[in-house]
Amino acid sequence: MPASKEIFQKYLNPIFIETGTWHGDGVQQALDAGFKNIVSFELSTELHYLCSKRFEGNFDVTLFQGDSAEELPKFIKHITTPIAFWLDGHFCGLDTAMGKKNTPLLEELEAIKAHPIKTHTILIDDLRGWTKELRGFDTLDLMKKILEINPNYIFTLEDGFIPNDILIARCL
Ligand SMILES: C[S@@+](CC[C@H](N)C(=O)[O-])C[C@H]1O[C@@H](n2cnc3c(N)ncnc32)[C@H](O)[C@@H]1O
Repeated sequence: MPASKEIFQKYLNPIFIETGTWHGDGVQQALDAGFKNIVSFELSTELHYLCSKRFEGNFDVTLFQGDSAEELPKFIKHITTPIAFWLDGHFCGLDTAMGKKNTPLLEELEAIKAHPIKTHTILIDDLRGWTKELRGFDTLDLMKKILEINPNYIFTLEDGFIPNDILIARCL
């Protein structure tokens, strides 16, 4: 679940960038929400292949296979418009992306920090899983990292898999 058209359409920007394509449901919800440029990164070659088939012929959707910790910084260097980031790439128990870097969230936020635009909208899914015990950092650490990008970010929560499971950071 979690990705939802109703949530995404509140945060429309010229580009939607997702980390963790999974089976493409987030991409579909972003399309349904009205995003016109959708980019998604997936570590698993199998899932990337399946999603490439699913969105074949849809020129609003660009899919990359690779580790978002490495690929996201390279890609966003070329972007000059505001982005809505859906940061959702991580090992989730059933996928095939094991063994490589599968908690790229801090590196993704570093890449966003290095970008010249400091007002991108950032959505982070699965807050329930970001604990020091499981991942080495928690939601408060994520918020601190986002405030390093720009101290004017404000935070709200949206419901996902469980209530208040999605962190929204934006500059008004
Ligand atoms: C929770 S699922 C994503 C769900 C999807 N975003 C949606 O809204 O339907 C997490 C995905 O992240 C992928 N993943 C894990 N580590 C990754 C990494 N370092 N770079 C890119 N994708 C990664 C996994 O293979 C898995 O498909």
